[in-house]
Parts: sequence; structure tokens; C-alpha cells
Amino acid sequence: MKILLVGGGGREHAIAWKLAKSSKVEKIYVTPGNGGTALENKCENINLGTFEEMAEFAKGNNIDLTVVGPEEPLTKGIVDLFKKENLKIFGPEQRAAMLEGSKSFSKDFMKKYNIKTAAYEVFYDSNEAIEYLKNSEYPIVIKADGLAAGKGVAICENFKEAEDTIKEFMVQDKFKGAGQKIVIEEFLKGVEASILSITDGKTIIPFLSAKDHKQIFDGGVGPNTGGMGVIAPNPYVTEEVFKDFEDNIMMPTLLGIREEGFDYKGIIFFGVMITEKGCYLLEYNVRMGDPETQSVLSLMDSDFLELIELSLEGKLSEAKVSWKKGACCNVVLASKGYPGDFEKGFKIDIEPSVKENVFIAGGVIKNDTLVTSGGRVLSVVGIGDTIEAAREKAYANIASVDFDGKYFRKDIGLITE
Ligand code: AMP
Ligand code: GLY
Repeated sequence: MKILLVGGGGREHAIAWKLAKSSKVEKIYVTPGNGGTALENKCENINLGTFEEMAEFAKGNNIDLTVVGPEEPLTKGIVDLFKKENLKIFGPEQRAAMLEGSKSFSKDFMKKYNIKTAAYEVFYDSNEAIEYLKNSEYPIVIKADGLAAGKGVAICENFKEAEDTIKEFMVQDKFKGAGQKIVIEEFLKGVEASILSITDGKTIIPFLSAKDHKQIFDGGVGPNTGGMGVIAPNPYVTEEVFKDFEDNIMMPTLLGIREEGFDYKGIIFFGVMITEKGCYLLEYNVRMGDPETQSVLSLMDSDFLELIELSLEGKLSEAKVSWKKGACCNVVLASKGYPGDFEKGFKIDIEPSVKENVFIAGGVIKNDTLVTSGGRVLSVVGIGDTIEAAREKAYANIASVDFDGKYFRKDIGLITE
């Protein structure tokens, strides 16, 4: 099979790496790809601009399947366009992708289908929002309705912070439209879990749970990032927690997808908060997580392509997913200064012995050399029988990877909470 993979981050490198392992796969074109997919087995980067160009490429090059990595193309309707052209594509239709594309849409969906989530209100007017915040309990959470590159959520400790946030989002229009409508929601205290799953709209199969580490510094302090590392499985997702998740979040979501008549053959990622009062759903993502994917696919024994094909055929109920025993720790190596300003263009050295354990995110090939091009540069993974063993492997592997200004957290997977 020939595959077109859309995206160019660490997640896409991991997806490409995993798909390339399938004996059915002959070639993977990645658009735009990165320095990791450029060097990956069976892969070739290609720069396609619009969805129309991608569809033309798929037709002209006998592409059997297109896989979409990031949320943006999904929320902008790439799946709908490909389907109109009779091209096979893995991902939810645009209407369903709004589960990630609009916070108010997803909260209303959760409410309608009795999915356990934080109490919330939606506002279109900054004065009304500020009035509401005068009588609220703190901390409180303010969310831009639309996509804001992971920066659209503010946890406010007091009225002043909340008022400033409303002004930034709604009046100064920081997110260029995405914050014109906002969701204000109850603050939940607990431990987070990322649970990715695959669905065909009738069946849903959860993957191994994962735990992201969002803040830049050890101990979970400092500004939020795209994710500085992941441990999978998530040690806080016990059998009891998982049952709660299944009964009160996952199955009602599947029911909602069916009732709404969504054409959903793709990935659903549940962002969950495990609290003293049980599991709450924070958000849906309609794609795999980054850097969750690098850990979760590293532990997947099954052929990922076969799962995707079963989903597209509506036969996911026949699928069995098998996982490696043990755990995977993924540590992100970032450019010094990230998530603020940072320099780019430094040479990345990776010893051949750890090549299989490295997923490139912000790295490109320039003059035949792999150099840094982004804030999160790459992920180094380690697999072991226990979380501790996986951690040790990942950190040992990091010694074989180097670039100027490399920064990483030392506590990924440490259980401290
Ligand atoms: P979201 O994009 O909705 O997942 O929010 C991004 C991050 O904000 C989450 O991963 C949480 O760390 C935090 N967050 C979102 N909603 C809440 C909430 N209701 N209570 C506490 N933290 C939250
Ligand atoms: N790592 C969180 C996300 O992909 O949204």
C-alpha cells in the first residue's frame, strides 16, 4: 500500500515509523514531514499546500490511504473533501472534528450525553463574562472556544486574573477569532490522564493510557508547553479508574457519536482528570496526542495499519489490539528557552545505537545535516518491564543524543503526586 501522511511533528514521525513496520506498506509520503520522516524507512517527504493539492497527489500517485496527524486539517474539513473525491482517508468528518474544534460544542455534547465533565457556562460578550466572574469561586478556568495552538486555556486564581484573561481573549482578540466565544468552567483538582482510542463509529477500542507532563520545569512548575514527556501506561489509571472512565465517559461518548450520526472513523483522545470524585472529561481531541503517540505506539504490538483498515471498513469489533508488557517513558528534548524564544539551526547528533528510540519533532535536514528547527526538538524513548526501568532506559538513551542548548525534564514518569 501507498500511504499519504499529513503532518510534520514528533507524532507524525512516530506514526510513520509504526506504519512502516507493516508488511503491507510499500511507501509513505509525508506532507510536509520533518527531518525524522525524511530519514525513516519507506518514507519520503513531500510539500503539498492545500487539501486540493493533497487530493490531486493522492489520485495521481495511486495512494491507497491518507492518514491525518494534526487537528487543524480535520477541523477544516480535509476528510469531507477526500471523501467527495472517493479517496480513502482516516479521520473524523468535519462536523465530528468540532468535538476538538469548539470547546462549547464539545461541552454541549458532553452535557447532552451525560458525560461527566466540569460545570460550565458559555459567553459571547466580555461584559457578561466579567459580571459572572465577579461572583465566581476561584480558581476558575477560562477557555477560548476555538483552536488556539494549546494556549487557549487559562487557570485564574482570582477575579483580577480572570478579568485580564477575558480582556486578552475577547477584547484584544489574542487568538484572532478563536477567543470571541469563551467557556468558563469549574476548576477540577486531580491527576490528568490521556486515553487515546480508535473508533469506527460503532465500536471504540481504548489504547494504553498515558500521562503527559505539560509544564516546562521539573515538579510540574513553570509555563505550559506542548508536552515535555510521557509515561505509558499512566500509573494513576487503575482498574477502578478505567472502569469509571469506560462507564461515564467512553461509552456515553460512543452513544453520542451514534445518535448524532457522525461519520467517525478515526482516533478519539480523551483528556481526563482523575479526582477524588471520580473521572471527569476535560476535553476531546480528534487526533493522537503529541508526545503521547511516541510512547503509546512504541508499546503497540499490533499492526496499526490493520486497525486503521478495520476502522475504515466499519469492522473494528473484529479487531484485537495487543500491547507489549511493561512501560514506555518518552522524554522530550527541547531547545533552550522554549516555550519562550529559542535559537534554531544547531546540529543534532544521534548515535546509531539509539536511532530506533528517537522521534524527531522540530528537526529538519539542511545541507545533508539534521538540525534543530523548533522548540520541542525530539523525543527519546525507553521501554522497560516497569516504569522505573523504562525511565532508566530513556534517560540512558539521552546520553547518546546531543545538540547545543538541549533541555529536558529529569522527572518524567517519576511518581510524586
Ligand atoms: P484542555 O485544552 O481543555 O485540555 O485544557 C488544557 C489543560 O488545562 C488541561 O490539560 C488541564 O491541565 C487544564 N484544565 C483544563 N480544564 C480544567 C479544569 N476544569 N480544571 C483544572 N484544570 C483544567
Ligand atoms: N499532549 C497533549 C496533546 O497532544 O494535546
